[in-house]
Amino acid sequence: MISFKEQINDIMKYGSPVYVYDRNTLKDRCEKMAKFRKDIEEKLKNVKVTMHYSPKANSNPAILKEVKNAGLCVDCMSPLELSLNKKSGFNNEDIIYVCNNIDKEEMKMVHDEGILICLDSISQVETWGQLFPDTDIMIRLNPGIEGVGHSEDVITAGKTTKFGITEANLDELFKIAEKYNLSIIGTHQHLGSLFLNNKIDDFVLGVKTGLDIIRKRFKGVSIVDLGGGFGVPYEPEENDLDLDLLAQKLEPVLTDFAEKYPTLKEFKFEPGRFIPCESGYLIGRVNAVKHENNIWWIGTDLGMNQLVRPSMYESYHEVTILSEEGEKEIVANICGDVCEGGDIIAKNRRVILPEVGDIVIVHNAGAYGYSMASNYTGRQRPAELMIDKDEIKLIRKRETLEYLEDNIIWE
Ligand SMILES: Cc1ncc(COP(=O)(O)O)c(C=O)c1O
Repeated sequence: MISFKEQINDIMKYGSPVYVYDRNTLKDRCEKMAKFRKDIEEKLKNVKVTMHYSPKANSNPAILKEVKNAGLCVDCMSPLELSLNKKSGFNNEDIIYVCNNIDKEEMKMVHDEGILICLDSISQVETWGQLFPDTDIMIRLNPGIEGVGHSEDVITAGKTTKFGITEANLDELFKIAEKYNLSIIGTHQHLGSLFLNNKIDDFVLGVKTGLDIIRKRFKGVSIVDLGGGFGVPYEPEENDLDLDLLAQKLEPVLTDFAEKYPTLKEFKFEPGRFIPCESGYLIGRVNAVKHENNIWWIGTDLGMNQLVRPSMYESYHEVTILSEEGEKEIVANICGDVCEGGDIIAKNRRVILPEVGDIVIVHNAGAYGYSMASNYTGRQRPAELMIDKDEIKLIRKRETLEYLEDNIIWE
């Protein structure tokens, strides 16, 4: 963790709470992904490997800039993400549109922008075909195998997921594609979000299962996208994802496929969380401390509207309290300022009994933090700052109440 002690007063001038990203860590994770890409590509003869960062994890252009500097590409899932990608300097060939249940207007936008689309159901392929026959598409495959992820809600393969087309429905897919003369030039799969070393074998098995289906059922695919899911350690006993081990275990599976599938030109990956997660911190203040029914509660301004992962997925985030005075240790629940019982950032944490006004730092908040933040209960989303050694740079202003009221039509 970077030491905020010297910079904290300057950081808090941007309001509380505030998201902060450490540029060094961000650059390091971009470089790690770039190396993973290169290592795999070097082992595969004549097959390109492309890394598309997924801005759903964090779409601030300051993050996208580092992604671009490291030579990575991007995906996107909405018109805003596409626009931010383009304004951050990515060319059409660097971008894929990986969407889920979009309407005709959005399809038209993707088509008119000239971006390769990945469609997620036969129904969406039919709609696309009616609008844009004779075009190239990618399709999202559900390899059928149980996906990998940190929570049920982020497992995106298997029998109960809303995503993708299963093997059983491929004949129907090929019929629709033929009807509209659509070329399925690529497949995509994404098994889920957040696997660590203990799930590497499951990830590789999921990849192999998908590749076996492609080999058996698809003719002439040139792009195979294997999705994201690369995890980071959130809990103290967890270790970094071993990318060398992952590459080592993936290589024989990818090489075997590449050798037997002559039209293949490119493997893609789509890491989201791995890139910005560990560079990000959400920093706020203690507003209240109470002891009721034998439970210590530390009330902060870090509500579920600022960081929803703990309430939504029961996710663990390390929390540090910068206490000036305290000595007494307590075990406490650290909660936010939203009037919801589930508005708890961290349960049963051993901390120094803080005072009102103390600083609270939530770690690993760089991914699915700001991007999932909301205005629930009418609170502004915070500012975002990039810290580059001694320099603190504002990369997004804190929302104002005027901004939040702007779209209201008053009677
Ligand atoms: C299609 C797709 N690609 C990539 C990602 C990025 O996943 P992660 O942040 O787990 O790497 C996601 C996230 O769920 C996704 O839905």
